[in-house]
Amino acid sequence: MLNGRKIIVVVSGGIAAYKSADLVSRLKKAGAEVRVAMTRSAQEFVGAVTFESLAGYPVYQDVFERPRAWEMEHIAWARWADAIVAAPATAHLLARLALGLADDAVTTLALAYTGPLYIAPAMNSAMWQHPATQENLKTLLARGVKMIEPGEGALACGEVGPGRMAEPADIVEELEKYFATGAELKGKTVLITAGPTREKLDPIRFISNRSTGRMGAELAAEAAARGARVIFVHGPMSAPVPAGVEAYPVESAREMLAKVKKFWAKTHIAVFAAAVANYESGAAEKGKIKGGDKLTLELKRTPDIAGWAGENRKKGQLLVGFCAESENLIEIAKQKLKAKKLDLICANPIGEEGVGFEAAENRVVLIDKSGKEEASEQADKREIAGWIWNRVKSRK
Ligand SMILES: Cc1cc2nc3c(=O)[nH]c(=O)nc-3n(C[C@H](O)[C@H](O)[C@H](O)COP(=O)(O)O)c2cc1C
Repeated sequence: MLNGRKIIVVVSGGIAAYKSADLVSRLKKAGAEVRVAMTRSAQEFVGAVTFESLAGYPVYQDVFERPRAWEMEHIAWARWADAIVAAPATAHLLARLALGLADDAVTTLALAYTGPLYIAPAMNSAMWQHPATQENLKTLLARGVKMIEPGEGALACGEVGPGRMAEPADIVEELEKYFATGAELKGKTVLITAGPTREKLDPIRFISNRSTGRMGAELAAEAAARGARVIFVHGPMSAPVPAGVEAYPVESAREMLAKVKKFWAKTHIAVFAAAVANYESGAAEKGKIKGGDKLTLELKRTPDIAGWAGENRKKGQLLVGFCAESENLIEIAKQKLKAKKLDLICANPIGEEGVGFEAAENRVVLIDKSGKEEASEQADKREIAGWIWNRVKSRK
C-alpha cells in the first residue's frame, strides 16, 4: 500500500525521536519514498545524519538554508508529499501547529501543506493531560488532523501513564490503512451519534440503557481512517472515544439533537448509531424523588433524532440508521427506514448471545430503500464497521 507513496516524517524534540529512525526504516522497507524534516530541538536527540542515511535524502531543518537548485523548500516539500506524519509530536509542536505558527522549517512546511497530516504525540503524562495540550489537540482534530493516539506505560521521565508514542509498526499500519482505502471519504463530513443517552428523573437518577457506544466508536474510527472529518456526538459511553474525531459529549436525547442540528448543514453522511433512551420524564424533579412502596412515573417520548434528520434532509446527504430489536427485527427495521426517511438501516439483533449491546462482536442486516437486504457475518465491531462503510461508500 505504501509502495511509491511520498511521505514526510516530521521529527520534533522528544526522547521518542530515536523511535522515528525505526519508523523511517519501516516506511522505506514498505516501499515508500521518505523525507525527514526536523525541529532544532529534535537534533539534540538524534542527529540529522541518521535520518539522511535511512531516508536517502537530505533532512529539511532550516527555512533559510540555501537549496542546491533554487526553489522554496517548504513549498516544494509541501507539494511533494502524499502524507505527513509528525512522530514524535511534542507538546510544543502541537501548540505551534494549532496556532498556525510558521517559525521554523517544520511548521512552515505544515502550514503550506494541504494533504493528510498525522500526529503521533509523545510526552510526559502531565504535559499530555494539561488543558493547554488538550485544547490544542481539539483544535487540530477539528481541522482534520489525524491523531495516532499515544499509549500508556512507563515513560522516559520515570512516570507511568499516557503519553508514550505509538509504536512505529502501528504508525505504519495507520498510513497503510489510509492509502489502502484510497481516502475514499476525504472531503466528507461524517456525523455519527453513539452511546446511550441519559434522561434525568431527578438530580441523581436517570433512565438509560446498556449501550457501550462501541459500535458507533468503531464506525467513527473507520470513517476517520478513510479520510473523513468525523463529528462524533456521544452519550455517556463506557467504550473509549476514538482518536482522530471531533467528539461532543452529551447526556440527553435533547442535547444530542441540539448538537446534530448544530452540525447538520455541514454533514454529508450521518450515521445514527446512538441508543437513545426512548423516554424522558414528563417533569424531572428538582429534588430527589421520595416514594413509598410504589412509585408511578409519567414518561413521554424523547425527540426522534433520526426522524428529525429525515425531515430536514439537505440535498445530497446520505442518512444511515440503526434499529436494535429483539423480535421482528427486519420488519421493524423496514418500517423505521421508511418512517424516518433514511437511505439505509442496520438491523441489529439484541438478546442474542455474543452480539449487540455490551458485546465485542456484532452482526447486522443492512437494508436499503428498495427493501434489499444484505447480512454481515458475525464479527468484531471494528470489522462490522468496515463492512458497513464498504457498503455506504458505494452510495456516496
Ligand atoms: C531530555 C528531554 C526530553 C524531552 N522529552 C519531551 C517529550 O517527550 N515530549 C515533549 O513534548 N517535550 C519533550 N521535551 C521538551 C522539548 O524538547 C521542548 O519543549 C522543545 O522546545 C520542543 O521543541 P520542538 O517541538 O520544536 O521540537 C524534552 C526535553 C528534554 C531536555
